Amino acid sequence: MEIGTWEIKETSFLRDKVEQNGSRFLIGNGFMGYRGTLEEFGKKQLVALNMAGLFDKNGDSWRESVNAPNPFYVKTVANGVELNVLTADILDHEQTLNIRHGIHTRKTVFNVNGAKITVKSERFLSMQRENLAALKYTVSTDTDITLSVDTYLDTDIWNIHGDHFTVKSQKDNFLELETIERKLPIFVYQHISGLESGSAKTVKAGEDVSFTKLCGIYWGEKTVNSDKDFSANSELSFDTLISEHKAVWEEVWDNCDVKIGGDDEAQFAMRYSLYHLNSIVPRNTDKCSIPARGLSGQVYKGAAFWDTEMFMMPFFSFTAPNLCKNLAAYRINTIAGAKRKAKEFGYEGAFYAWESHETGDDACTLFNVNDIFTGRPLRTYFKDCQIHVSADVVYGLWEYCVVSGDYSLLLSGGLEMMYECLYFFYSYSVYKPLKNRFELHNTVGPDEYHERVNNNAFTNRMVRYVADAFESALKYVKENSSKYYDEFCKTHDISFAENFKERLYVPGPNQDKIIEQFDGYYKLEDTTLETLRNREIKKNEYWGAHGLASTTRILKQADVVMLLNVFRSEYEQSVKKANWEFYEPYTEHGSSLSACAYGIVAAGIGKQDWAYKYFMKTATVDLTGDTKQYLGDMYIGGTHPAANGGSWNTAVFGFGGVSYNNGVLDISPSLPKHWNKLEFKLIWQGIRLNIVIEDNKVKITSAQPTDNIKVTVNKKEYKF
Ligand code: BGC
Repeated sequence: MEIGTWEIKETSFLRDKVEQNGSRFLIGNGFMGYRGTLEEFGKKQLVALNMAGLFDKNGDSWRESVNAPNPFYVKTVANGVELNVLTADILDHEQTLNIRHGIHTRKTVFNVNGAKITVKSERFLSMQRENLAALKYTVSTDTDITLSVDTYLDTDIWNIHGDHFTVKSQKDNFLELETIERKLPIFVYQHISGLESGSAKTVKAGEDVSFTKLCGIYWGEKTVNSDKDFSANSELSFDTLISEHKAVWEEVWDNCDVKIGGDDEAQFAMRYSLYHLNSIVPRNTDKCSIPARGLSGQVYKGAAFWDTEMFMMPFFSFTAPNLCKNLAAYRINTIAGAKRKAKEFGYEGAFYAWESHETGDDACTLFNVNDIFTGRPLRTYFKDCQIHVSADVVYGLWEYCVVSGDYSLLLSGGLEMMYECLYFFYSYSVYKPLKNRFELHNTVGPDEYHERVNNNAFTNRMVRYVADAFESALKYVKENSSKYYDEFCKTHDISFAENFKERLYVPGPNQDKIIEQFDGYYKLEDTTLETLRNREIKKNEYWGAHGLASTTRILKQADVVMLLNVFRSEYEQSVKKANWEFYEPYTEHGSSLSACAYGIVAAGIGKQDWAYKYFMKTATVDLTGDTKQYLGDMYIGGTHPAANGGSWNTAVFGFGGVSYNNGVLDISPSLPKHWNKLEFKLIWQGIRLNIVIEDNKVKITSAQPTDNIKVTVNKKEYKF
C-alpha cells in the first residue's frame, strides 16, 4: 500500500486483502458507513452499508446494527466477460481513499481477449446531506466491444447474525423495506443518469460509457417525505454534490487538524485516525453514539462501548463540542435502559450497558465468547461485572462540561444521570464494618482476562470520580439554577453521597509504589507473555474466562496504567514510572485500547521512545490492520475508533502535554526527539486556540478575546 500526503493507495489487487481493505478504505458520514469494497463485490467480500443507530434482531441471534441494501452494486460485462477483479484478467489496478475529502476511487484495467477495458469509479457519502450516497462510474475501451452495465440496489448483503429486513415493495428506483424485530421502515431510492441499465450496446474504441448514481437511504421517521427530499437532492449534479461535500470536510480539518513536523509517517497516521473519527461521529442526532468498530460493519453488534467516552470524546470535546454534546446526550437519552439493567441485576440507579444499542439496553449476552475447543458458549462477565461503564459515561459528560464550559446538559437529565450512576455504585458496594469502608466486589476492570475481582483500582477510582463530579455538578446547579436545585433535592435522597465518597476504598501505591490491579493480583503466577503464548494449544484461544491468562499476571490491556492515564495529574511521577515499568511486560495489548494509555503515561515520565512506539501503534492500527481478527471463533475485524481517538490523545495530552485543572488549561510539551513541530487546535471553554510547539517554545494564538480563559505553559501563566 502506498501512502501519500492525504491518501492511501493500493496499486495491485490482492485477494487476501479484500476483508482488511474493506475497513481501510471505508467512507462514512456519521449516518452511514460504506466499506472499501469494489462495485462488483457482494456479500462474500463483506460489502456493507452500515447504518448508525439502526438495530435489529433476527430470531434468537444476537441483535446487531443493520446493513442497508448495497447502493453501489454494478455488474459490467464486456464481450461476455464480467469485469470482476475476482474472476477476470487484470492488467492494472488501483484503489484510493482520499482522507481529506472522504472520497473513494478505483481504476482497473481489464484484459478481455486483447481488449483493454478500463473501469473507473468515484464515490462518497455526502457530509452535507447525510441520506445521500453518490457514485460516478466510467468504462472506457481501446477496442470496439459489446458492453452491458447493470446497477441496482442489491439486497443480497452481508450480515453476521441473520437478515434484518424484509422487502415490502420494490419499484425500479425504490425499495421499501421493514426491519424484522421492530418493523421500522427503511426506504432506499436510486436515481441514475447517463445509463440504460442492463441493455447491451456497442462501444467503440476510444469511447466511454459513464453514469452517475445517487441513492437516498432513510429509515424510521425520516422516511416521511423522504421522496421529496430525495428528488430535490437528485436534481443536483454530481459535481455540485461533491464540492459541497468537500467543503464540509475542509471545515472539519480546519477545526481539528494536527500537524507534525519531521515525521511524515506519524503525520499521515495521525490524520488517518482523525479521518476515521470524523467519518463516523453522528453529526445530526443525539440518539446514537459511535460503535466500537465505527461504521465498518456489525462486529461487536454495532454497539457503543466505554470506548466512546474514555477514548474518543476527549477529541470531540476539544475540537467539535457540538458533536461531543450529542454523544453525552445519547447516554442521558438511554438512561431508561441503564435503569432496567440495574433492576435486572438487583441494583438501584443506572447500570450502563457494556454494549449499548438505541434504548440503552445491553446487547451483551452472558455468554459472549465461544469456546474454541468445544464450540460452546463460554460464560463471560463483561455484562454483569464491568460496572466501570457507569462511571465512564459520567466521565464523558462531566469532562465535556468542564472543557466546553457548557453545563446546560446538567439541567436536561445530566445531573439526574450522574446521581443515578452514583446511586447504582452505592447499591453495588459492600460496606466492610471492621474497615469502615465501602468496597467494590465482583467486578471486571479494563483487563477482561481477570473476571469477578474485588477492588479493581481503576474501577474504584472511577467511582470516586463519579462522587466528586456529582458533588461539583450539584454545586454548579445550586449556584446557577437554584430552582432546579431545590426541586432536585426534594425529589432525590442525596444524603448517602458524602459518606459513600469519604469511605470508598481506592487502592493506592504500596511501599514499592505499585498499585495492585485488584485484591490478590500479586498472588497470581508471575509469568511472561511468551510463556503464555507457548502454552496455547489452538490459535485464537481465548485467554480470559477460565483461559490461560486468568491464573497469571498477564493482562489484556492497560488497567492500572489506564488509571494513571486518566488521573495523570494526580499521581506522582515516581508512582507512574514504577507502575508503567511493572505492568508493561505483563500487558498483551490484546485490545486496541491499550497502546494509547501506555503512550500517554510514557510521554509524561520522560520515556519518549516508548511513548512514540505506542503512539505509532495506536495511530497505525487501521492502516496496518495489525490487530486481533478473532476472539475465540468470533470475527472482530473492522476499524478501531478508540485507537483513533487514542492517537489524538497521545499526541495532544502525551506529547503536547495538555492538561486542565481547576479551570486552567496547561500545556507542558515534550515531543519525540525527531519531531521538530507539533501544531494543533483546541476549543477551550468556547475559545478557539491554535497551538504551535516548535524549538521547545509554545506559541498560542486565538482570533477571539481570551480575557476570560486561563492558560499556562509549563505551569506558568501565558499572556496572549
Ligand atoms: C476490549 C474492551 C473494548 C471492546 C470494544 C474489547 O476487546 O477489551 O475494553 O471496550 O473491545 O472495543
